[in-house]
Amino acid sequence: MKIEQYLNSLPKSIISGDEVQLPQHAIRNILKFARLNENDVFYHLGCGDGRAIILAIQEFGVRKAIGIDNDSEKIAEARKLVLERKLENAYFECDDIVKSEIKNATVILFWFSDSQIIEDMNVKFSHLNEGCKIITLWNPLPNCLPDKVDFPFILNISPFKKAKDLKEQILVIFETDCIDFITAWEFAERYTKAIQDPHAESNRFLTIIQSLVIWINARNMGVACEKEIPAPIRNYIYILRTFFGIEVEHLIK
Ligand SMILES: C[S@@+](CC[C@H](N)C(=O)[O-])C[C@H]1O[C@@H](n2cnc3c(N)ncnc32)[C@H](O)[C@@H]1O
Repeated sequence: MKIEQYLNSLPKSIISGDEVQLPQHAIRNILKFARLNENDVFYHLGCGDGRAIILAIQEFGVRKAIGIDNDSEKIAEARKLVLERKLENAYFECDDIVKSEIKNATVILFWFSDSQIIEDMNVKFSHLNEGCKIITLWNPLPNCLPDKVDFPFILNISPFKKAKDLKEQILVIFETDCIDFITAWEFAERYTKAIQDPHAESNRFLTIIQSLVIWINARNMGVACEKEIPAPIRNYIYILRTFFGIEVEHLIK
């Protein structure tokens, strides 16, 4: 089965990302990466049950933390958790992030993959105060060059630097002129370590899929180092086809 069909066969809540929450260790590392501190007004867009808001107040002592999510049950849970912990300076809004107001933000956590939301938010982000930091995961903001990268964590600081093209963006993120299999594997592993439970059984599988995605995209954009498909890529394509029934070779242009 082609990988597109495999993805379509998974539950919608998984593919939409709506039921995906970052684990505590990932949130902590993301907030450290952004150098969150007591002067900050922190926003988490798509805050779920508010665990990043709680951590930002308890461990980083931010001035104010605001979580926005369009799921009323998650917002109710977030409000309950904050109340139980008697935390001040935590605020929640049940709203669509595209319609909600972002006021005096200094740091924003924005982990979305829906291209329409990203496009709409990019327009909104262009009106942010100078110096406001936006943390994204895996991708920088569209058409922007990141100010700081610790893959998969990416920081864009307002006003955003424009990238010449996608190729320039990729090369800045991967800090190399071309992407070979080893780079693809290393970055895929960084992503797995950063956002997964270290004991999750699926970690190896995730790294294999992500390294293929990175290398194949690099190849299709003309920034892969190898002219031929490297042996490890061939092996992983074979493993996916033979043991998991998932076909990815057709993605290589
Ligand atoms: C990690 S975010 C990303 C989800 C997203 N659909 C994507 O593009 O990848 C998940 C959280 O965002 C929330 N969410 C999804 N769409 C939203 C929207 N338009 N406005 C506010 N919250 C949203 C979900 O309820 C969930 O708690």
